[in-house]
Amino acid sequence: MSYIRISNLTKIYLGRRSKPRSLHDPDEHSGDNVLVLNDINMSFEEGEMVCILGPSGCGKSTLLRIIAGFELPSCGNVVVGDKPVNGPSDQSIFVFQHSGLFPWMTVAQNVGLGLRHLNDEVVKKERIQEYIEMVELEGFEDYYPHQLSGGMQRRVELARAIAVNPDLLIMDEPFSGLDFLTHMKMREEVVNMHEYIRKTMLVVTHDIDDALIMGDRVVVFSGRPAALKMIQKLDFPRPRDFERDHELSRLRSEIFLMLGVPYAV
Ligand SMILES: Nc1ncnc2c1ncn2[C@@H]1O[C@H](COP(=O)(O)OP(=O)(O)O)[C@@H](O)[C@H]1O
Ligand SMILES: [Mg+2]
Repeated sequence: MSYIRISNLTKIYLGRRSKPRSLHDPDEHSGDNVLVLNDINMSFEEGEMVCILGPSGCGKSTLLRIIAGFELPSCGNVVVGDKPVNGPSDQSIFVFQHSGLFPWMTVAQNVGLGLRHLNDEVVKKERIQEYIEMVELEGFEDYYPHQLSGGMQRRVELARAIAVNPDLLIMDEPFSGLDFLTHMKMREEVVNMHEYIRKTMLVVTHDIDDALIMGDRVVVFSGRPAALKMIQKLDFPRPRDFERDHELSRLRSEIFLMLGVPYAV
């Protein structure tokens, strides 16, 4: 059975002027209700990196928040592992955040937060060092977040996520706001991290190339209300290269078209 199962998922944000109404009859035009997700059905396998694309405002973040248990669906349900999601989970789901570091803690202390369960201080220190080295931040262990660049802060977040070793890692636009080279480097780090922890990852991105380079599966949503336009396994060999792999390049053009851009640039 699939690891994540999303069934008949609908989300309506009720506007201030609308009265609560039957959730079995979602109607976008009633009052100022906003129908964001419309009857989504999909499932993902354990260990997959799933990349989610869709126009801005279509409901991608809403979907992630529902899967993480931060938000309740209006209809339908989400099951992760063998548990229906009905609230934020403990250690098993980790949501990667842009400014999720504690500013009063050093890099090592921030990463160590993911290892609170370890009682052996020597082992803990070794693990912290290992993860810091994985994201190439050795030498910065005693720095505070404000002493690091934006890209370095994001890598500390990655190290912390590796330390937590969650069953499901959720990332909402993890590369937003990074310059081009930092973005490329960080993308590589995320792929390496996935190879290392082999856990299920859901990554929302607005970048078609990110999705096709990183994903084991790609999901494309329509504009709001988000409906599934494409869900496809990506069996392309790595490292992936649009110029050499014509099928990958064809898929790229197809997704560009699907998202309303008539040609891939
Ligand atoms: N808490 C909320 N209350 C009301 N409307 C919301 C709320 N959160 C998001 N929305 C609306 O839902 C739609 C989808 O938002 P979001 O999931 O953030 O889209 P995306 O991440 O795809 O850009 C948007 O129109 C947004 O204005
Ligand atoms: Mg969003």
